[in-house]
Amino acid sequence: MLSQSQIKAHYDRLGAGQDREARYEDAAFLELIPHLNIGRAQSVGEIGCGTGRLAERLLRNELPENALYWGVDISDTMVTLTTDRLRAFDGRVTVVLGDGLEQLRGLPTGFDTFLATYVLDLMPNDMIAQIVSEVSRVLKPGGVYGAVSLARGQGAAQRFMSGVWSIAYRLSPRRVGGCRPLNLSSHFDRSDWLLRHRQTVLAAGVASEVVVAQKK
Ligand SMILES: C[S@@+](CC[C@H](N)C(=O)[O-])C[C@H]1O[C@@H](n2cnc3c(N)ncnc32)[C@H](O)[C@@H]1O
Repeated sequence: MLSQSQIKAHYDRLGAGQDREARYEDAAFLELIPHLNIGRAQSVGEIGCGTGRLAERLLRNELPENALYWGVDISDTMVTLTTDRLRAFDGRVTVVLGDGLEQLRGLPTGFDTFLATYVLDLMPNDMIAQIVSEVSRVLKPGGVYGAVSLARGQGAAQRFMSGVWSIAYRLSPRRVGGCRPLNLSSHFDRSDWLLRHRQTVLAAGVASEVVVAQKK
């Protein structure tokens, strides 16, 4: 597993190149967005906002005109890219630098929606647990957590492709951006969360798990 400083260095270098991952991410976003029920959300948070691609899409097409967006990313380059990309929504957008946990702890409660796409799969399991617990604290009761990660997959084709990724990860986590396939839904304790939607999506040879969980 890459350390937080190695992850930061990787994404600082990668910058806008992250958008090439749209080849498999977009299919998962297409699965995620309708299940977020975001049409009336007033406040959305995101961990690991990357270049701001998902945030722009939601602000432009899905969210009410007065909804606020807050995002955090560990990479200075990504914070700059998201800030630039979301300039048209000035006054409604806050993007901060950090590893997620500390910044989440500083947030007030009352968010309608939180997002974490292709970022929990970079974190050790104990950090995922802390992030999920902090997101639960900041969401309103009934608020929604939309998460996507690389998946182990279902069926022979998906399992084969995620097996190839896992081997590549074991040989060199750097080569696959530090991401490993996860069993994402297992990180949501059913006594705190209602699993509203769960789907595995295969696109461009990459299996992703989409989870939409509602805070009880
Ligand atoms: C694979 S990219 C995904 C970006 C975007 N969410 C997407 O779906 O395209 C992972 C992003 O998470 C950021 N990241 C990694 N670890 C993080 C952490 N602990 N806290 C905040 N951001 C983190 C990286 O800098 C990078 O921008």
